[in-house]
Amino acid sequence: MTDRSIEASERRILGNELLWAFGVGVLIAAILGVVVFTALTIGINPPSNVERIDPKALHLSGEFAEQNLGTTVDSGGGVTVRVVATQFMFVPRCIAVPQNRRVTLRLATPDVIHGILITGTNVNTMVVPGFVAQVYTEFPHTGDLLMPCHEYCGLGHSEMWATVQVVPENEFKPDRDGRVSCAQR
Ligand code: CUA
Repeated sequence: MTDRSIEASERRILGNELLWAFGVGVLIAAILGVVVFTALTIGINPPSNVERIDPKALHLSGEFAEQNLGTTVDSGGGVTVRVVATQFMFVPRCIAVPQNRRVTLRLATPDVIHGILITGTNVNTMVVPGFVAQVYTEFPHTGDLLMPCHEYCGLGHSEMWATVQVVPENEFKPDRDGRVSCAQR
């Protein structure tokens, strides 16, 4: 090959590489754009609540002690659900929530990393030992929803799920301690 043809082929290679770099750049910008757009418009974003908790003392006192788990309505009408994700069950196994009201979900784990999602909603978060996972949502439809663990957490992973019972607002009646449990059906 002559010097000139080597130079020409190198130029072609450089041209090709720049073309690919440009294409990949456009793709990355598009993906980032979609992430930012969905985060700002339809509330899809990575869980970002950085709140620490001692996983070894979860059950001893505080909000994740057994008697405080489940659904609580505070004096201002705010609905908070507290759930412990543990190998291999959710405590409690059924949670009651009202239709069309903002619900705060707070989850913690004493053992390994679990993950939760509630079918048909935007609830989807990891539950990491040492942190409280917190997400908000509203449930537009009544009925039972499945809440499976979606992070492999051991041999019983596939048995780990809970039920979310969405009840009409007029049937959602807290008891005198502000607690609401699933109706027995
Ligand atoms: Cu918990 Cu999988």
